[in-house]
Amino acid sequence: MSMREIRVLGICGSPRAGNSLFLLREALASAETVPGIAKGSQSLSVRGKKLAPCIACGRCYERGDCCLEDDFSAMRDAWLAADAIIYSVPVYHMSIPGQLKCFIDRLGNSLFGRYRGLFTEDKLPKFLKAIGNIAQGVHLHSGQEHAITDLINHALLMGCVPVTGDLWQAYIGGAGWTSNDGEPRALERQCAERLPDALVALASARSVGRRTAEMALLLRAGAEGLDRSAGGDPIYRVFLAASPRSAGSTP
Ligand SMILES: Cc1cc2nc3c(=O)[nH]c(=O)nc-3n(C[C@H](O)[C@H](O)[C@H](O)COP(=O)(O)O)c2cc1C
Repeated sequence: MSMREIRVLGICGSPRAGNSLFLLREALASAETVPGIAKGSQSLSVRGKKLAPCIACGRCYERGDCCLEDDFSAMRDAWLAADAIIYSVPVYHMSIPGQLKCFIDRLGNSLFGRYRGLFTEDKLPKFLKAIGNIAQGVHLHSGQEHAITDLINHALLMGCVPVTGDLWQAYIGGAGWTSNDGEPRALERQCAERLPDALVALASARSVGRRTAEMALLLRAGAEGLDRSAGGDPIYRVFLAASPRSAGSTP
């Protein structure tokens, strides 16, 4: 089977161009070293974006789209078009930043609404994207694992596959701390100075990037077998529609 190149999308959850963006760029560069991964990965940020919170109006279940008009739709379309997503976030209050939470809440409900018509029973589609996560904060043991767990839960709800990097640096995702330095370029500078903790964060981000790309390749390579064995199940229709045989057809 000839496979198209895999598209990796980076999403930075920081409202500034700082440490999260630094680790995201490193992860994307690492992903692109994997053969079969498209070069020039798209990278998006919540920075400067208008992303209002979900208002629970429920209209997305009727019209398949969010009724709030802001930067959400463009980000959703990029998310849908990617085979792999790498999130890189700063820890905020031991969790993920609010802007990204707004995006994730609206992504889930509006896509569940959009594809609701596929199902006779109350099921949700499996988008089967590989999702890798990176979180860093100013302090040590200060919410990195909680923030990553939030993103893993998001991956599971979206019927995606959460991926981590290589042990021993990455257990549930890429993680780091800036050794109490609140500056946006702290990690980049500390890596240049060869600070051991910053180098661990860097290594974990790079391995998350590479392993997430490889998982996306695996998933996409399995599409044909899935189509043969379970292709009739509508929960896989969105994923299979993006496979080479039927590329371009949207369910
Ligand atoms: C509102 C807010 C909440 C924060 N909460 C935490 C926290 O709970 N734990 C932590 O380690 N750092 C926390 N930080 C610090 C950032 O995670 C840290 O400065 C990080 O390096 C910022 O990443 P960035 O440069 O990508 O924006 C917080 C920062 C802000 C602005």
